[in-house]
Amino acid sequence: MLLVLLIHTTALLTAVAQHNLTRFGTATQSSNIGGGYAVYAIRPPISNDFSLKICSHTYVDHSSNKPAWWMFKFSFGYAYITNITIYYREGFARRMDGFKLCVANTSITPPVSDSCYEDPDPGLPNTTQTISFNQLGQYVIYFDSKGSKETSGRYDRPTVELCYVAIDGRFITIM
Ligand SMILES: *[C@@H]1O[C@H](CO)[C@@H](O)[C@H](O)[C@H]1NC(C)=O
Ligand SMILES: *[C@@H]1O[C@H](CO)[C@@H](O)[C@H](O)[C@H]1NC(C)=O
Ligand SMILES: *[C@@H]1O[C@H](CO)[C@@H](O)[C@H](O)[C@H]1NC(C)=O
Ligand SMILES: *[C@@H]1O[C@H](CO)[C@@H](O)[C@H](O)[C@H]1NC(C)=O
Repeated sequence: MLLVLLIHTTALLTAVAQHNLTRFGTATQSSNIGGGYAVYAIRPPISNDFSLKICSHTYVDHSSNKPAWWMFKFSFGYAYITNITIYYREGFARRMDGFKLCVANTSITPPVSDSCYEDPDPGLPNTTQTISFNQLGQYVIYFDSKGSKETSGRYDRPTVELCYVAIDGRFITIM
C-alpha cells in the first residue's frame, strides 16, 4: 500500500517538474501530402530544415481555399502552457502569414478559444518564434486560413509546414 502510494507520488512529481511537454501528447493535422505527418512536428530535429521526413506538411492545391490546421492533444488532463516555440519551414514565411496559434479546450476548428495569438499585419512572420500563453488547456492548435502567392505567381491554399513545436509548461491535476 505504502509502496504503491510512493510510486504514484514519484510519477506525479516527475510530471509536475517537467517543462518540456511535447512527449505527453499526440499530433494530428487537417490533411497529408504523402509524408509530412503531423507527428514530425513533435519529433527532433529542432530546426527549420525541411523535408517530408522531418516536418509536417498538409496538402496543397491551387484552387480551393480550405483552411489547414495542426493540432496537439495532451494525453492526460490539462496542462498549464507557459510558452510555445514554433519552427516553421525555412524560407516559407509567406505560407505562415496570418497564422493563429491557440491553447484550447476543444478540438473544434477554427479554434474556439480566448487564448490565441494571431500573426499581425503587415509583414511576414519569423519562421522561428516563441509565443507566451500562461494558460491552462487541453489542446494546442495552429490554424491557417490564408492562402499564399508563391514566387512563381501561383496561388497555394492555406498550408501548414511545421518542423518542430516546442511546448513548455507543466501539468495540473484537476480532480
Ligand atoms: C522535448 O522532449 C522530447 C522528448 O523527450 C525531445 O525529443 C525533445 O528534444 C525535447 N524538446 C526540447 C525543445 O528540448
Ligand atoms: C519558455 O518556457 C520555458 C519553460 O518554462 C523556459 O525555460 C523558457 O525560458 C521560456 N522561453 C521564453 C522565450 O520565454
Ligand atoms: C480550459 O479549461 C480550464 C478549466 O475549466 C480553464 O481554467 C481554462 O481557462 C480553459 N482554457 C481555455 C483556453 O479556455
Ligand atoms: C521577428 O524577429 C525580430 C528579431 O528578433 C523581431 O524584432 C520581430 O518583432 C519579430 N517579428 C514577429 C512578427 O514576431
